[in-house]
Amino acid sequence: MHILVTGAAGFIGSHLCERLLQDENNQVTGLDAFVPTATPEWMRKRNLRALLHHPRFSFIQQHLLNVSWATLLPNVDIVYHLAGIPGVRSSFGPDFETYVTNNILATQCLLEGCRQYPVKKLIYASTSSVYGEKTGQVNELVPTAPLSPYGVSKLTGEQLCHVYAHNDQVPVVILRFFTVYGPRQRPDMAFHRFINHIMHSKPIPIYGDGQQTRDFTFVEDCVRAVAQVAYADNVIGETINIGGKERASVLECISILERLVGKKVDIQFIRPTYGEPRHTWADITKAQSLLRYEPKMDLYRGLEHEMLDIYEMSTSMPSTDHDSLS
Ligand code: UGA
Repeated sequence: MHILVTGAAGFIGSHLCERLLQDENNQVTGLDAFVPTATPEWMRKRNLRALLHHPRFSFIQQHLLNVSWATLLPNVDIVYHLAGIPGVRSSFGPDFETYVTNNILATQCLLEGCRQYPVKKLIYASTSSVYGEKTGQVNELVPTAPLSPYGVSKLTGEQLCHVYAHNDQVPVVILRFFTVYGPRQRPDMAFHRFINHIMHSKPIPIYGDGQQTRDFTFVEDCVRAVAQVAYADNVIGETINIGGKERASVLECISILERLVGKKVDIQFIRPTYGEPRHTWADITKAQSLLRYEPKMDLYRGLEHEMLDIYEMSTSMPSTDHDSLS
């Protein structure tokens, strides 16, 4: 299969490209515009490091709004659309414009391309943030009610997918990711920040009381499920939760980090941020049946992998970036 991955230089996108290339029948084209985000460009280039040497991988640096679909899409079988501006907390305020451009307009532009040059599947990366505040496990039928502008932008992308599926038979599949972590995690996300603060002996900032819980998904579990969508039957038109092996509170995660570093760490409770649900918890029954998905990685080992990656990165990062990341 010839597979196009948008957002290929990102955290999940780069892992997905590597996973897809494990099948020697696949050829992967990665697209990324390096739109400025909390992840510095050098970090995204580092994400691509192994891929750029791969004989079945090619890379295009271009924004989705500028792509010539007539050139790119005719030979593509499957599109994974992971490009976008992530992050719940940063979507409040004036930066929302960039969420609109990159999460909504760019998605509509890609859907227009797929309408003109049909592909076998268009897989859209969405988020647990579309659910908003819920109690208990959520399945895909639970009504959506995002609490953040980011969640609204991703839900709008989902709805655009449905519009093009309905009117033009674009074969869409929607995946909702739950707080993905592991090597290459974005530096604005909790675990990356926590590990950076430990490395720089600074107190870890905890929003609110730290009792909020997340369904944490290790990135290799996530991309195993995501890659399977390309092969699976009966997934077109479906929305599927991709959750992890373990749910935990932020404070429970801090204790795991303490076990990993073998000492107590300093924490500092700060004002809770708005726009975040208190708890997330994925019902993954559908992913289990349609994708034969079973998350494997527990938080202790998953955090150990992420910590090792951040230690390795800190020895190779440009010195000017040290402060900005902590
Ligand atoms: C993450 C991603 O950032 C979103 O892009 C993604 O769409 C979302 O998961 C999702 O699954 O819907 P979030 O759950 O906020 O959002 O992920 P983290 O940044 O890893 O935060 C996890 C928890 O740690 C949150 O409860 C947050 O309040 C807390 N946190 C985060 C802190 O206490 N301190 C920090 O410095 C950062």
